[in-house]
Amino acid sequence: MVIPPSSSPASPSLEPPDQVSPDLISPTGAEIDAADRRAREWVFQASGALPIGSDSHRDASCRMFSDTFNPYKPSIIAWPKLEPDALQRLTSLPIWDIAVRTETKARARMLAYAASVDDPAWREAIGRNGWEEGRHKEVLSNLVASYGISLAPEPPDRLPDDPEWGYLVTGYSECIDSFFAFGLFEVARRSGYFPAALVDTFEPVIQEEARHILLFANWLAWHRKRLGVWARIRFEFRVARAWAFLAWERIGLARTMEGGEQPATDNNFTLTGSKAVSDVDISPLALMAVCLSENERRFAGYDPRLLRPTTTPALARLAARVGRLFWRGAAAEAMKPATS
Ligand SMILES: [Fe+2]
Ligand SMILES: [Fe+2]
Repeated sequence: MVIPPSSSPASPSLEPPDQVSPDLISPTGAEIDAADRRAREWVFQASGALPIGSDSHRDASCRMFSDTFNPYKPSIIAWPKLEPDALQRLTSLPIWDIAVRTETKARARMLAYAASVDDPAWREAIGRNGWEEGRHKEVLSNLVASYGISLAPEPPDRLPDDPEWGYLVTGYSECIDSFFAFGLFEVARRSGYFPAALVDTFEPVIQEEARHILLFANWLAWHRKRLGVWARIRFEFRVARAWAFLAWERIGLARTMEGGEQPATDNNFTLTGSKAVSDVDISPLALMAVCLSENERRFAGYDPRLLRPTTTPALARLAARVGRLFWRGAAAEAMKPATS
């Protein structure tokens, strides 16, 4: 199925997910603050273990997603007025086209997968996730319109024939991007490179991505556990293929940039963007440490019986360990007395 590109940055108005109370679609400021707190802390009412792959594991995962829904409305977000230098920094970030396209693609893939799922609880939760991606796009569209950022027309998007493949790639892609976005967002907040009002305004969107990858990690574990032996083997091949695809996509873009050729869009911004969000020179190791601690903080409020995304943090820890060895070696080399 080919999805037509949006003709303008502003999205068409989005229908709320079925289970969202109409009262919550026009919330008051106090309701938004309360919902923001609720979106960050959640414990499943039923006590006891939640065996992975069980109905209770599914119910807890899907319940978490609906209970932590934040009813903010993109159209009532007041984007703060920026001083010329902050405006220049914001408008020159190379992320706006890819960010809007990514939300369009994520929405389409999640809605397509939700429609293909038999289980009503997962169908509702993943469908709601797709709806939230559409809302992210609306937030971004309002932001770029408010600050006069112009976007290139969105190219047509072709959905994969297999909705599960589309959801797998989207889910893993969000796991990678969100992990680095958590760290970059914190670096931007600490450095004061962007005004606090702007950072605060964007905060709920970042936390929402934490909820998305929490849901994905639990769907993945639940789904795996329910597969028979052959289906499981086939599924693990698909997982490996999804990682290979994402690695190739990112390495390919990195090469394009190294060659001096500017890619049309920067999929690697979350890996390379620390210089664009801060005037402090932060080393890759220090950025990794911020990403890891932010990753922990953002998931700390959710029921510990739910699984967390683990692969990207594990790869980051490994990279940090290897990096420390390398830097220690380089430092030791530099300390050696010169020989003639
Ligand atoms: Fe999103
Ligand atoms: Fe998301």
